[in-house]
Amino acid sequence: MKKRSGKPRLKTAPAGRRAQSKRSPRPTKSYRQGAVFLVGFMGAGKTSVGRALGQRLNWVFEDLDDRIAEHEGRTVAEIFRDSGESAFRRAEHNALKHLLAELRGGSAKIVALGGGAFVQPENAALLKAAEVPTVFLDAPVENLWQRCCAQASESGTERPLLRSKEQFRKLHESRRPAYAKAAIRIQAGNRTVEAIAAGIVEMLGLKKIEVRNQQGEME
Ligand code: S3P
Repeated sequence: MKKRSGKPRLKTAPAGRRAQSKRSPRPTKSYRQGAVFLVGFMGAGKTSVGRALGQRLNWVFEDLDDRIAEHEGRTVAEIFRDSGESAFRRAEHNALKHLLAELRGGSAKIVALGGGAFVQPENAALLKAAEVPTVFLDAPVENLWQRCCAQASESGTERPLLRSKEQFRKLHESRRPAYAKAAIRIQAGNRTVEAIAAGIVEMLGLKKIEVRNQQGEME
């Protein structure tokens, strides 16, 4: 974990070419406290990193895809299959709008967005207007492909847009410029979930919510 104690610094970089040359690793813009949005391609680890971050900070973790599935009463794969991608994108946009509205005055939250959410300009605009920090989990496409294939065979994770390797690579390439508009970018290939979570805490200066145990002591 990166600390100011002289341990090696994480290889992290702000997103975007312009940002890379001008910004320090910790973004100078101040964001509304209490929310972090994880973006990036399928298999980048948004959900696992989000869960780890939530535990580390005592913040609530939410996966936007779960909210969509719950609201629709069917899985993301079923929405794609029965109603098509455009219906899914509409549901995704509405889910994001509601989630952002709930954030005002709600508990601190880490949110994992599905791989296509941040790429839709209207969703990126909502996040920008809400002044919440977005974190791009970046990883080499080969790495992402391997993870998605492993998750499909080991836990049966269904991803409607996981088709051929060539399509996967092309989609990744076409989306990368949009992900790079996130406030910060962090390397997520070949690093543990805990190391990535620690890097995000450090880069955004996130604070743990202290909770009292039954004896009334701070934990
Ligand atoms: C999608 C990624 C999925 C899910 C949906 C569409 C995409 O989420 O939202 O299948 O467009 O890349 P993950 O990134 O969590 O796999």
